[in-house]
Amino acid sequence: MGIIIDGKVLSKKIREEVAEEIIKHALRPKLAVVLVGDDPASHTYVGRKEKACQAVGILSAVHRLGSEVTQAELMALIAELNQDNSVHGILVQLPLPRHLDQMAIFSMLKPEKDVDGLHPLNVGRLNLGLPGALVACTPAGVMEMLKSINYSLKGKHVVIVGRSNIVGKPMSTLALRADATVTVAHSSTVNLALHTRQADVLIAAVGKRDFITADMVKPGAVVIDVGTNKVGDKLVGDVDFAGIKDVAAYITPVPGGVGPMTIAMLVKNTLQAAKMQHG
Ligand code: GUN
Repeated sequence: MGIIIDGKVLSKKIREEVAEEIIKHALRPKLAVVLVGDDPASHTYVGRKEKACQAVGILSAVHRLGSEVTQAELMALIAELNQDNSVHGILVQLPLPRHLDQMAIFSMLKPEKDVDGLHPLNVGRLNLGLPGALVACTPAGVMEMLKSINYSLKGKHVVIVGRSNIVGKPMSTLALRADATVTVAHSSTVNLALHTRQADVLIAAVGKRDFITADMVKPGAVVIDVGTNKVGDKLVGDVDFAGIKDVAAYITPVPGGVGPMTIAMLVKNTLQAAKMQHG
């Protein structure tokens, strides 16, 4: 049986560190969350984010907009939040309804308030290794999980399945910056298993249940499951956990793995944003 990396325990430790730092520096960070439409999963996630903020001493305000909101209306709200000095972080919950131009929204955020690390300046800073980048929460959380098991990526082969702007791409940059050899596989990859079987660290961010099966994993690999798929009321990842737990050296569960880490890194990013704005 591989060792389970417990995201609940690790995320609690990170949230406690954030809470301590907020007290120590007498900060009053505030996160504005923009929630468009009525996707039930998004409502659940936003509820968790609010609760996590409250628990560490971050103020949060949720701006709920109807799914019919126009691009201009959404941009007007972002402009207002950009101007508001009491707001240190802005999170636009994804996915947005299809008629909205997501990249235009993220590009107009003040980069120092972009707690999702999706503004082109933050992506560029991360890519170039420049200081001050806010880094996307989920990949930053995965790096913390690897750190928690003292796993050095130097010289290791990291295979990421999924190339999204919010997970796969920033994950590849972080792994590369940690001196890994990186493969990014995606929906057009031919003979996926050939690639995944090479992985010392396999990161699945696909959005399909049981997508990664035991035959795709090298014995002794670290398997990180970023997937969040609803099966009835149950949440499952992209990884066939039962089949892989005895092949992998380390594995993250769903729920209780990467998900809580994403929220912990959001509160950490909000603290970083507040600190940057206070000079
Ligand atoms: N929806 C699912 N994951 C995320 C995330 O990390 N950030 C935002 N803004 N929306 C999401």
